[in-house]
Amino acid sequence: MCGIVGYIGHREAYPIIMKGLKRLEYRGYDSAGIALFDGNDIKLSKTKGKVSDLESRVSQEITTEGSLGIGHTRWATHGVPNDINSHPHYSNSGNLVIIHNGIIENYESLRTELTKRGYSFTSDTDTEVLVNLIEDVKKNEDTKLGKAVQIALNQVVGAYAIAVFDKTKPNEIVVARLGSPLAIGIGDDEFFVASDASPFIEYTKNAIYLEDEQMAIIRRGKDVKIRKIKSDTLVDPYVQELQINLEQIEKGGYDHFMLKEIYEQPSAIKDTYRGRLRVKSGIIKMAGIDDNLDKFLKANRIIVVACGTSWHAGLVSEYIFEDLARIPVEVEYASEFRYRNPVINKGDVVIAISQSGETADTLAAIKLAKSRGAFVFGVCNVVGSSIARETDAGAYTHAGPEIGVASTKAFTTQITVLTLIALKLAKEKGTITQSAYQSHLEELSLIPEKVETALKSDAHVQMISDIYKDARNFLYLGRGYNFPVALEGALKLKEISYIHAEGYPAAEMKHGPIALIDENMPIVVIATRKGHYDKVVSNIEEIKSRSGKIIGIVTEGDVSVKKLADHVIEVPETLESLTPLLTTIPLQLLSYHIAVMLDKNVDQPRNLAKSVTVE
Ligand code: F6R
Repeated sequence: MCGIVGYIGHREAYPIIMKGLKRLEYRGYDSAGIALFDGNDIKLSKTKGKVSDLESRVSQEITTEGSLGIGHTRWATHGVPNDINSHPHYSNSGNLVIIHNGIIENYESLRTELTKRGYSFTSDTDTEVLVNLIEDVKKNEDTKLGKAVQIALNQVVGAYAIAVFDKTKPNEIVVARLGSPLAIGIGDDEFFVASDASPFIEYTKNAIYLEDEQMAIIRRGKDVKIRKIKSDTLVDPYVQELQINLEQIEKGGYDHFMLKEIYEQPSAIKDTYRGRLRVKSGIIKMAGIDDNLDKFLKANRIIVVACGTSWHAGLVSEYIFEDLARIPVEVEYASEFRYRNPVINKGDVVIAISQSGETADTLAAIKLAKSRGAFVFGVCNVVGSSIARETDAGAYTHAGPEIGVASTKAFTTQITVLTLIALKLAKEKGTITQSAYQSHLEELSLIPEKVETALKSDAHVQMISDIYKDARNFLYLGRGYNFPVALEGALKLKEISYIHAEGYPAAEMKHGPIALIDENMPIVVIATRKGHYDKVVSNIEEIKSRSGKIIGIVTEGDVSVKKLADHVIEVPETLESLTPLLTTIPLQLLSYHIAVMLDKNVDQPRNLAKSVTVE
């Protein structure tokens, strides 16, 4: 996820773009850049760091005149965050300049092809490949920029929102979108381009939201021509009047970042497996695993180190790795592991999981494991973070920035990456049948739409939240794959609503927590059809006979739990190993709604920090 801004009109573009980039920093903030056309040439400045770093760089490097420009705030996907990989990117001739939000999946083959044709590349990005592809098409087909962009995009696989201009025709900006948002602000003889409307809300309330597979040619002082990228058909621009304010726009219309991030999970999970999960060919492609396959195949044991929610994702992976790939797994709190003089044997593989990539204890655990000769693999969200750099290899989750302090999409995307790894190893080791492997790939590809279905329970969850918001204690129970989900559900409730909650393996309830159960105790029980269903139903009976209030998380069409529970929340059916990706959704919503009803600061709960860089 990156932020893009553009301007073409009669004002100075620089202050508009800079202010716009600051508003889009929530979309990514590892590097930033700007390109302005000053009437003669392009003036470009870019840097690793925040938009404020870009401002200081600009003041030393370039003049800021010009009424045409584009700017970018980056959240790295291809290539670590550094000055060179920052956007905008020039084409080889220096005539074209582009900004891009998204991922071009087939960039390696395009890059190879363009290299054969004499193009060279200074960055590691997929974006530089795209701008040169556009240049190549423009030259070979002798077309205008708009047509060249269209032809080039038809050769591209992936997701994008782009803005590009040509210094030899400085009266237009060409934009396009597929899978990443793009809005065009329509002013008086001026046009704005941005990932959302926040950069232009004070200049105009009139906006066109491009649809997927549409592109627009924005002509200075004239008009916006929209066409479909695939079919070349012209589309009538639909100009909307914006009714929302700045803060609402940054949060995508949601009241809190946490809720936005909960709702982003279908697309975040898709972004995680995009280009990696190839269902038709039955392949899982992950460079970090492919390059180190022998280490994983020879591994006697996997040790997972992580903290908090990431530790819960690690616990889910214990079930997946052991079940599918038959590799023994130990899941360790990084803070314990680092001070425990752990036994690390030759052939152990350590997997470190961290959304931020900056958690001090996880970083220290990695250093310890490396000093004892272990191969350490990272699963991080933030590209170029300390943990991503410290590990020997890794796989990014590509979930986009997580702003809400309570982790939501980080959890489900971490599980997605770990599932892909487990499946790949299971296939290589022959511990899974071909048909089970293939059905896992198919089911995983359907998870985004099933998460979408699970999110439809939102209003029902809100109603349940209202009933139990004043409870002082909650119990969360689950078995097998859903035991870690119970822990995660309890953590979510604790951290944002400050209600005491405990997660337990359902059967352990009898060894203590059952003493807490009375008519005032809400108990969330994950009781999906696949996964020890009958046993969990027996646990529910035990709760019922002690008058506990039961909120069952069940599979669509469930009958038995419905008869016993006070409330049920349905999730779609899937394979047992993938249920955590669905059962966690209502638990996130439950904690969110209770916290909102209790008037708590959902995005910044007391005493917590998004990234814990002290031990
Ligand atoms: C809970 C939460 C924390 C983090 C933990 C690890 O919602 O956000 O428990 O999961 O601090 O952070 P990362 O994953 O950045 O290492």
